[in-house]
Amino acid sequence: MESIYIHGGVALQGQVRIQGSKNAVLPVLAATVLIEGTSIIENCPRLLDVYHMQALLKSLGCVCLWDGEKLKVNAAGVDLVHALGGMPQDAAKGMRSSIILLGALLGRTGEVRIEYPGGCVIGERPVDIHIEALKKLNVQFEETIQGLYAYTDRLRGAEIDLPVPSVGATENSILAAVLAEGITIIRGAAREPEVVTLCEFLSACGADITGGGSSTIIIKGVEKLSGAQFRIPGDRIVAGTYLCACMAAGGEVLLKEAPVEQMQAVLHVAEQMGACCQQAKEGLYVQMHERPLTLEKLVTQPYPGFPTDMQSPFLSVLTLAKGTCIIEENIFENRFHTVPYLQAMGAAVQQTDAHHVKVSGVEELHGFTVSAKELRGGAALVIAGTAAKGETVVDGCRFIERGYENICRDLRELGVRIYGV
Ligand code: EPZ
Repeated sequence: MESIYIHGGVALQGQVRIQGSKNAVLPVLAATVLIEGTSIIENCPRLLDVYHMQALLKSLGCVCLWDGEKLKVNAAGVDLVHALGGMPQDAAKGMRSSIILLGALLGRTGEVRIEYPGGCVIGERPVDIHIEALKKLNVQFEETIQGLYAYTDRLRGAEIDLPVPSVGATENSILAAVLAEGITIIRGAAREPEVVTLCEFLSACGADITGGGSSTIIIKGVEKLSGAQFRIPGDRIVAGTYLCACMAAGGEVLLKEAPVEQMQAVLHVAEQMGACCQQAKEGLYVQMHERPLTLEKLVTQPYPGFPTDMQSPFLSVLTLAKGTCIIEENIFENRFHTVPYLQAMGAAVQQTDAHHVKVSGVEELHGFTVSAKELRGGAALVIAGTAAKGETVVDGCRFIERGYENICRDLRELGVRIYGV
């Protein structure tokens, strides 16, 4: 799909099932490499990033088989030859999360060659914290022009102090520590729900991990892991995206299987902006019948704070809110790509510096042809188009397909006049 067409300005009405979480399933799929057997991952979303990860697993000697919404991975065939064979460049470059295979492959084979993962337009995306953490576990690195060559004669438990609660570095440290000799303590760990899900999957496979979801995680190395059948939770960012569409265009929606308990900071902000959010048996029920209220300030922080991935979607809603808001983006250095397009749609928004945007709500936006430059910004432009009067065309939809199974199908189920070509 290249472009999405939206005839906006109609209130949302309906219900949709929220897909499995992209940012939870990617490290879990990487973790299957540690297991000399079969794992069954349920509620696995069909996303570009999952297909990229599947290609990387296959290149490492894994056999992957889809069975409905289940992805079965048999990693018995993973060995040094594959691990050093290098991974398909398009898959590795196409997706940041290829770096997450580093810890798992070291745990399985002790040696691996990996491409530098693609940075992207939202920021440099360095991996220095990953490397420093793994060095603590007795890993040596050689940096070559193709990327990283990492090796260890034996992974040994250690104390790791993360300078930044990096989600990926926390996940890589856990993946390398579960089969290491001795005990690993990770301090300053990321507390995101995706880290908790990874710890739950690994524990189901026989790992000994305590403290997942807190800033101190303790891992006692075990001899071996065995495959498990595991269900991926709903995607909190996709649920937040559709919450924003309802806040921008108005209406009443039920977001089935939304992980409400993981969305508290987002729901708190939504309610401050006038949305009525209720936890229902099936998920999250949202009502929005008035123009959104603005906020004095919206600040992104590591979990459990307001998530950076929700910043662009909420910016789209704030363009229609009564009053002026300052948005502060603290996690990435370049995450305001939607601003010029929102301006073209009639929004009164300007970027004041690399980390701040000022937005004063207007009565309405008008449709325009805009371009997605990255995943969440692309989704945020779809949200703006859902509320704007007239037709909006969003180009560059392959970015959106990295994280949304089918945003057109989902929003159509909520009554939006939207289609993709
Ligand atoms: C994960 O990225 C998510 N991706 C991102 O979601 C999310 O925005 C981010 O966490 C923050 O919550 C996946 O889980 C696949 P970080 P990750 O390491 O792990 C700096 C989406 O839209 N840093 O927590 O790459 C880094 O530059 C994506 O689904 C270093 O400096 O994020 C950033 O400023 C976008 N050195 C900050 O830390 C390092 O070695 C947080 O990054 C690693 C990170």
